[in-house]
Amino acid sequence: MPRDRYRTFSSAAPASAAPAGAGPMPAGARGRAHTESFAQTERSDWWWLKPLSQALGLAVLGGYATWAALQGQHYEYGNYLSPFYSPLLRPSWLPKWVSPALLILWAPGGFRATCYYYRRAYYRVFFLDPVACAVGEPRKGYQGEAKFPLILQNVHRFFFIVTLVFLPILWWDVFRAFTADGHFVVGGGSLAILASTTLLSCYSLSCHSFRHLIGGRLDCFSCVVAGGPRHKTWSVISRLNEHHMGFAWWSLVGVCFADFYVRMCSMGIIHDVVWTFRQAMDVSPNP
Ligand code: FES
Repeated sequence: MPRDRYRTFSSAAPASAAPAGAGPMPAGARGRAHTESFAQTERSDWWWLKPLSQALGLAVLGGYATWAALQGQHYEYGNYLSPFYSPLLRPSWLPKWVSPALLILWAPGGFRATCYYYRRAYYRVFFLDPVACAVGEPRKGYQGEAKFPLILQNVHRFFFIVTLVFLPILWWDVFRAFTADGHFVVGGGSLAILASTTLLSCYSLSCHSFRHLIGGRLDCFSCVVAGGPRHKTWSVISRLNEHHMGFAWWSLVGVCFADFYVRMCSMGIIHDVVWTFRQAMDVSPNP
């Protein structure tokens, strides 16, 4: 590909200003919006609608998740366990006023907070940096994620590995939610926990770090051990990865809804209907 194609992109800045490697882009090369005053733009569409709806979504769902995790009660009902409290750790030394969720939520919380998609979303909607494409920014000193503290976002790949430990535990909770007294049961809570865990699995397995781990570092699959299976896995992960933004949102909705359902049942506000499958043809609803 002719080098001139790249040059046209950076024509606003002197070619010598563009560093050869990674790093913050010089202010002059960051586009016109960088030099305009905040929210100034020539865009005539409703550019503010998307950041506004993302801000509302993150505030409502993030607010609910934080509130639910701090409650420390009504997280269990029968064979259901809220995903915010799984795995359930209740050591004897833990004071009664400390929620067990706080012992484990640092991992999924850190995983989400450092997720590439969520970073883009909350940089835009809470730091307004940039609030949208081709819209003036409030600050001019942004240096990307190349310096402290934002360089710490690189721990995302390690949070991903920790999250892989959580997934089998969450699927065990699904198994428990569909069993009672040795019988297969189906209830509203079983379905809510199944949906939540399915969405959380899709969200985790579509992670950019996972895709990179499986095949992103390779130039040649056929040149490495188990290159064929790795390429197949990478292809599946890549298909999932295309929908990562959707999984990020729906998994957050799913996990909040599963907690809400278990909480409402535990508080006696809603009545869970459960069908017990004693034999293949004998299906009876429990009161
Ligand atoms: Fe979103 Fe890894 S990039 S979870």
